[in-house]
Order: sequence, then structure tokens, then C-alpha cells
Amino acid sequence: MSHTATAEVVHDYSPSAVDFADLPNMPEEYRTELVRLMAIQAYSEEKASTEGIEWIAKSPDYKRRRVFAKIIAEEAQHSYLIYNLLERMGIPEKEAIAIAEGRSQRPMHDASLEGPLSVGDDENEWIDIMLNHMFLDRAGKFMVGNFCEASFKPWAEANKIILREERGHIGFGFAELRTYLAENGDSDEARVKISNWYAKGLNFFGPPSTSRGARLSAYGLKRKDNETLRNEFREEVEEVFAEIGRPDLIKLERNEFPYRSGNEG
Ligand SMILES: [Fe+2]
Ligand SMILES: [Fe+2]
Repeated sequence: MSHTATAEVVHDYSPSAVDFADLPNMPEEYRTELVRLMAIQAYSEEKASTEGIEWIAKSPDYKRRRVFAKIIAEEAQHSYLIYNLLERMGIPEKEAIAIAEGRSQRPMHDASLEGPLSVGDDENEWIDIMLNHMFLDRAGKFMVGNFCEASFKPWAEANKIILREERGHIGFGFAELRTYLAENGDSDEARVKISNWYAKGLNFFGPPSTSRGARLSAYGLKRKDNETLRNEFREEVEEVFAEIGRPDLIKLERNEFPYRSGNEG
């Protein structure tokens, strides 16, 4: 019996170490997890654009309409950037959508997506759309920042562009929130709306990490796990509301996944 040493290929999973040309040599599981993460991201970016689009016409004035229309266009571009990369990896848009919608792998209508999917709700007002940018884009900022460190270079690069623009969306949401608080700061409605969107932002990170999280981290696809990112988001939100002197606006009734403000219908 002869012993042939099986050469174990050691892959480099450090930030931006993997390019298109390396993909065929990567473990099957690496490609599957990468495609899945990208498909879900492309899908949420697409929703961010399509769910908000009717608010261009409903913006309160010309100046805000112009800024908001730019945000919607940027969200559409974010989704295009990722779908385009997937296409170059041999995954057509339709297949990517099927993966994201869980027809292949995962149920989508869990608490993590209640935020993005509620942007199109009939009862929403302009301030809800702004709170979506204030909270969901802020949660997204932490996820996108994490993806900027990913081992797959083309995806990391795309996320650097996305991150820059998300910061602008968050800034607009925050400015609009301050305007709203100046007039409605003492109302019950303000407390209800703000804590609801805060809970949706916390849920956006998904359930606490599983063994899958450890695998994603080993592959350099998600360097920080859901819980770490969620805590960074939480700290930043608490800081922002402490700074404006209104920590009372972000009260939660249930302080674990799925997070609840206690104000839901
Ligand atoms: Fe985006
Ligand atoms: Fe955004």
C-alpha cells in the first residue's frame, strides 16, 4: 500500500484575496455561501429601490423630492452592481432572486426582512420612509462595512461604493427626523414610529449566529457575526438619541430576537 500525500490546498481568505479567476478552485461551499449572501444583498437593495419609489411623487416639497429621487436611483444601482457580479459568476438574475426568496434555500418572510418589506405599507407616512433610511440603512451600513472586508474582491469593492452612498441616505433620514421631532417630538406617534423602526433595524441582522456564522467567518465572507454587528448598530443608535437628548424614543418591550417595541398593531 502506497501512501500518496493528498495535497491539501490552502486557500487565502484574507480581505480581497479571491478574484473571479480563483473561484473555480475554491471549495464548492465557499461559492455557495458567497452566492447566497450576494443574492440576498442584491434582493434587499432592489427592494429598497422598488418599495420606496412611489414616495418620489409623494415627497413633501421639490427640494426633498430631488434628494429622495437620487436615493432611490442609488439603491437601484446598488442592486444592479451585485446582480452584475453574480451574472459574471454564472448566476443569472432570475436564479439569484430565487435563491434570495428562499425558493432554493431560505424562508424570506422572517423578522429580519420585516423592515425592508414594510416600506411599501399603505399606512406609511413620509416620516416612516425617513425612519427607514435612519434605521434600516444604518443597520445596512454595518453589514455593508463588513462585506467591504470580504475575501471576494469584486464584491468587497462594490460594497465600498455602496457604503459611501448609504452614509448619505442615513444623513438625509436623520435630518428629516430632526425636522419631524421639532414639530411632533412630544407626540405618542413619534415614540411609536421611532421605536417600531428601531426594532425593525435590530431584526434586520437576523437571528443570533449559528454554526453557519462560524463557517462564513472562516471563509472571510462575514468577518463579524450578526450579534457583533447588531451591537455596534445598537450602540450607535443609543449614542445618536442620547446626543439629541431623547433616549426615551427608542424603548423596546422585547430586547432579544425578534425585537419588539410593544407598539405593533
Ligand atoms: Fe443601498
Ligand atoms: Fe440606502
